[in-house]
Amino acid sequence: MNARIGVIGSCMVDLVTTIRRMPDAGETLEAPRFALGHGGKGANQAVAAARLGAAVTMVGCVGDDLFADGTLGNFAHLDIDAGHVRRVPGMTSGVAPIFVDENGENRILIVKGANADLAPSDVDAAAPALLTCDLILLQLEIPLDTVYYAIDWARRHGRRIILNPAPAVPDLALDRLVGVDFFMPNQTELAILTGHRADTPEDAAAAARHLLAHGISTVVVTLGAHGALLVNAEQTRLIPPVHVAVRDTTGAGDAFIGAFAAHYASGTPLVESLTRAARYAAMSVTAEGTQTSFPTYEAFVEFCANLDGPPAR
Ligand code: RIB
Ligand code: NA
Repeated sequence: MNARIGVIGSCMVDLVTTIRRMPDAGETLEAPRFALGHGGKGANQAVAAARLGAAVTMVGCVGDDLFADGTLGNFAHLDIDAGHVRRVPGMTSGVAPIFVDENGENRILIVKGANADLAPSDVDAAAPALLTCDLILLQLEIPLDTVYYAIDWARRHGRRIILNPAPAVPDLALDRLVGVDFFMPNQTELAILTGHRADTPEDAAAAARHLLAHGISTVVVTLGAHGALLVNAEQTRLIPPVHVAVRDTTGAGDAFIGAFAAHYASGTPLVESLTRAARYAAMSVTAEGTQTSFPTYEAFVEFCANLDGPPAR
């Protein structure tokens, strides 16, 4: 893949505890398992794209702690350019205590730490690297002003933009999103951000159409086990789900977006890129953890070949 992708976003360390149930206030319970993993929506999307062969530049902040070394080591190991990931003295790295129950359902807290320090000046400092990218990916685990600045910067420089409005913040100003090429929320985020119901695919499509009036070209709503919905001026189309046994859905949305970006930026047509993204995300929910569950290119190709059956003669 010859895609070049820039991610301006968060780096976190995921503290994943597998639980039977959440303790009540004042109660202590034993949980069966714990695992430490690399996470953060920005880093996750960067990793999914890199695993699929894209050249990725990460722009972000880490703290002044052991987690920072681990995060930078992870980027180096995956050949992600982390020359614009800044260490912030005196701050902790972002962390996400995550609780996964036996149905694979998760509850996530995020502590932004150094991610809250990512500033417009970091975007400017990374400009030479970002100018080589075909697509810029943004999420909402960094300050909103930096997100708005990055959108304006990318638009001024003719870069295409994907905004994943996650986690949803009700004060996201829709009128600052002019020029976003792809707006990619899940159903919950779409409902919070538009104030419209988005429980069914029909409701989600109607809510998504409201966003097109804000200068966003294409909305893609991820619908979990129901696939994804593509809404733009030309079409409203359901991207079918891939049915798999669910073990851990953490980071599935990030897997979807990173995989979409890698495919689309390398010239794969829109609907085909979304179909492959849905497959990549489906694979990720069959394995525990966040980035650890994102398959390599080789494993992904094999999974797709099994779905499609042997090639026609
Ligand atoms: O989208 C999943 C991610 O959200 C986790 O990796 C966690 O770090 C939180 O940021
Ligand atoms: Na997973």
